[in-house]
Amino acid sequence: MTRDALTQQLEELAHGASQSLAAASTLAALEAARVKYLGSKSEATRILKELPSLPAQERAAVGKLANDFKRRIEEALSVRRAALVEAPAGPAIDITLPGSAIPHGRLHPVTRMMDAIVSLFVPLGFEVVEGPEVEWEYYNFDALNIPPDHPSRESFDTFFLELPSAEPKRGRLVLRSHTSPVQIRVMERRKPPLRIVVPGKVFRPDPLDPSHSFMFHQVEGLMVDNRTSFADLKGILDQVLKALFGPQTKTRFRPHFFPFTEPSAEVDIACTACQGQGCSTCQRKGWLEIMGCGMVHPNVFKAVGYDPAKVQGFAFGMGVERIAMLTHGIKDIRLFYENDLRFLEQC
Ligand code: DAH
Repeated sequence: MTRDALTQQLEELAHGASQSLAAASTLAALEAARVKYLGSKSEATRILKELPSLPAQERAAVGKLANDFKRRIEEALSVRRAALVEAPAGPAIDITLPGSAIPHGRLHPVTRMMDAIVSLFVPLGFEVVEGPEVEWEYYNFDALNIPPDHPSRESFDTFFLELPSAEPKRGRLVLRSHTSPVQIRVMERRKPPLRIVVPGKVFRPDPLDPSHSFMFHQVEGLMVDNRTSFADLKGILDQVLKALFGPQTKTRFRPHFFPFTEPSAEVDIACTACQGQGCSTCQRKGWLEIMGCGMVHPNVFKAVGYDPAKVQGFAFGMGVERIAMLTHGIKDIRLFYENDLRFLEQC
């Protein structure tokens, strides 16, 4: 054979080989193509075997062509093999497989309970208001008729911030220990009549235990006009507690003391675990303490420039975690703050 004839044969082989390689859709088909083009009985091998019969001056050139051909096919084979191994035969996507679910987030149980509580007051004409978590002593204590020597002002009952106060006449800065200061902030800015509910975080330096946390949530309420009475307070809170704990819920108003209300009461509901029989949940009392309330103290009205002879109203404050624990049967407040999805998904 002549050099030109061999060269042309190799070209044709290369063309056929690249078509078979591209058409091979399985590893077995690819192997068959390899045997056909590079195997011991292949054209390429035959051509290489013919080299010695060529004139010496042509041998090197044809040998180089044949070796180039082998190298090109080998390269193409390994590329195709890698592609087949990565994407095995068959459709690339199995559209019959169920899709992978994207987990849905939802509101934290404390947030949900806080929303549920305030939304019971909204149809009664109460407006939702918020206030700052970093508060002046004046709003947290003084304006609420809490005297300077009151025990709740001790550093083990309130977080005092070691920051310079921008308004020293309002005292030091604290993390608010209740939501009641928002009563003062709203009354300072507005004239009665007003009805507000105030959801938010409060802080107390209590060590963590099953019923205490250094941070928890309250919902505060305030209603002021010229005729709101203790009967209105009882009626509204009774209705709200029945909505939260069920229509059979019994409520009781027990005399108590708060500096910012007079008279004051604590509101109890008949124990949800034993229906008032007495059990470990209610410490055998048959009643569970739910919130504090009372008629706004005249000194509080004076602090905000209202005339106590002309206006009257009630206030109340309740702990959100406590209510969520009772309605969900949760025994440890710390569970709310650990971000453990196994707990949160059950609420
Ligand atoms: N601030 C009180 C507390 O944190 C709760 C409270 C009691 C709020 C009576 C009130 C109220 O508005 O009238 O313990």
